[in-house]
Amino acid sequence: MAATSPHLPWWNDRVGYQVYLPSFADADGDGWGDLAGLTARLDHLAGLGVGLLWLSPIHPSPMADHGYDVADYLDVHPRLGTLADVDRLVAAAEARDIKVLLDLVPNHTSIAHPWFARARRDREDPYRDYYHWRDPAPDGGPPNNWTSVFGGPAWTFDETTGQYYLHLFAPEQPDLNWDNPAVAEEFDAILRFWLERGLAGFRIDVAHRIIKAPGLPDQPVVPPELRPTDHSGRSADHHAIEHIHDEDQPGLKELHGRWRRIADDYDALLLGEIYLLEPATLARYLADQRGLHLAFFFGLVEARWQPEALATMLRAGEVTGPHLAWVQSSHDRSRAVTRYGGGATGRRRALLVATLTAALPALPVLYQGEELGLDDGEVPVEAMQDPLALRSGGALSRDPARTPMPWRDEPGLGFTSGQPWLPEGGRRRGDTVEAQETDPASPLAAHRRLLATRASLADLRHGEVRWVGEAPPLLAYDRGQARVVANVGSSPVALPLEGSAWRVAFATGGLAEGARLEGGAELASEQAAILVRDEAQTP
Ligand code: GLC
Repeated sequence: MAATSPHLPWWNDRVGYQVYLPSFADADGDGWGDLAGLTARLDHLAGLGVGLLWLSPIHPSPMADHGYDVADYLDVHPRLGTLADVDRLVAAAEARDIKVLLDLVPNHTSIAHPWFARARRDREDPYRDYYHWRDPAPDGGPPNNWTSVFGGPAWTFDETTGQYYLHLFAPEQPDLNWDNPAVAEEFDAILRFWLERGLAGFRIDVAHRIIKAPGLPDQPVVPPELRPTDHSGRSADHHAIEHIHDEDQPGLKELHGRWRRIADDYDALLLGEIYLLEPATLARYLADQRGLHLAFFFGLVEARWQPEALATMLRAGEVTGPHLAWVQSSHDRSRAVTRYGGGATGRRRALLVATLTAALPALPVLYQGEELGLDDGEVPVEAMQDPLALRSGGALSRDPARTPMPWRDEPGLGFTSGQPWLPEGGRRRGDTVEAQETDPASPLAAHRRLLATRASLADLRHGEVRWVGEAPPLLAYDRGQARVVANVGSSPVALPLEGSAWRVAFATGGLAEGARLEGGAELASEQAAILVRDEAQTP
């Protein structure tokens, strides 16, 4: 790991990696990835150049949303390991200079959380007010028109006490009531518990929706002709209303700031899932650095291969400041390779985008399997597990992005010796870590070289970004003495070399790494490179 600049936080010099734990590596053969499995695979991440892991939720959970329904924030799901396994993981990661973030899920708990068990028991219980309860509407239906991300109303009627409770996600995920100061205090303690244990911070789940408008008013209905046809991981019902009262609300940033003050005591990182695509909106949460340290920019996760849109999105940091984490895939959306056209085309484009984001402030984050150029796995409808799939008859499903990591070409993929919880996904030998390890032309080899280039050139991690190619086909920016270039068009383009000599530090194809460019050079269609100014005289 390159030395950290004294002026920049520690994460600035790292590359992040999302581990979707159920599908990463299974040590005990029960078909579910676990902490011990991940710990045994850390060398894969160290070899790739990863310095920061984000772990999807590890807590006890009925798994109605695969861990995003937490039943105890202070313990570990027995299927995934124990608290001692967390300690072992953190120590083994530390030995490789890798920091570990947990996923904090503060918007909702599981219905199996003891708080909710108490809350639903009777209206007078002190835990009642940890959640949002309302009387039925006069017709007996839900109290307002809010809808769930996974489909259907955002309310479920609870027979015992005769009221509805709010859930922006599944009925098994009741929303917490953050107007109740006791809830905030519970979470202060949860943050401290894990930070004391040596975790490096948190990815904050649904960080843009935790606070709701006072009185929970109805939200405007979106006319059918204006609703998106590409649902992108959310139900049609979710898109049927305009979310003006259940996201981006006053008070949210203050809540982020409350957590930041705790995190700063530990020099920990808070990385928000602030799913707001407008950079100007994100900037309100990030620019003055009084909220979370970083937020993901999700524009690329939503995009297909759209060079014009790409050019605009890559400049989001000019609006938000250098506080973005760059992702093009996650466990919630179709993988980039698939969205960009699949196969060799998709792989080529995903590597191009990875190159363009590798030197953008502050933090590039890979989703597991991205380094292998994976496309979506095949999951037959009857094998789907995602709550979104179960409610849409399989029409919408996040499962294809979640199939097991292909380590080896054998039954169970080297992921498990048992029966994987999701199908293997139709992986081929060339998709596996084992095959790519020894193939210099593999996506794995390219990602390793790319991240090594970022680590070896301080200019790629420090200093101002200056765009020098702003519109397709040529996208290019300088960072210090380095220049990142990509041709997003369909024919070769001349590279801007401005009379200087440049050395090719990294190339996805077309250019030879190590070559000196002087005079003129062309970049082939859909290729990218990192160049470094090379003032040495030609002999
Ligand atoms: C976030 C997670 C997603 C989960 C949802 C509810 O969007 O990334 O997987 O379903 O929150 O917790």
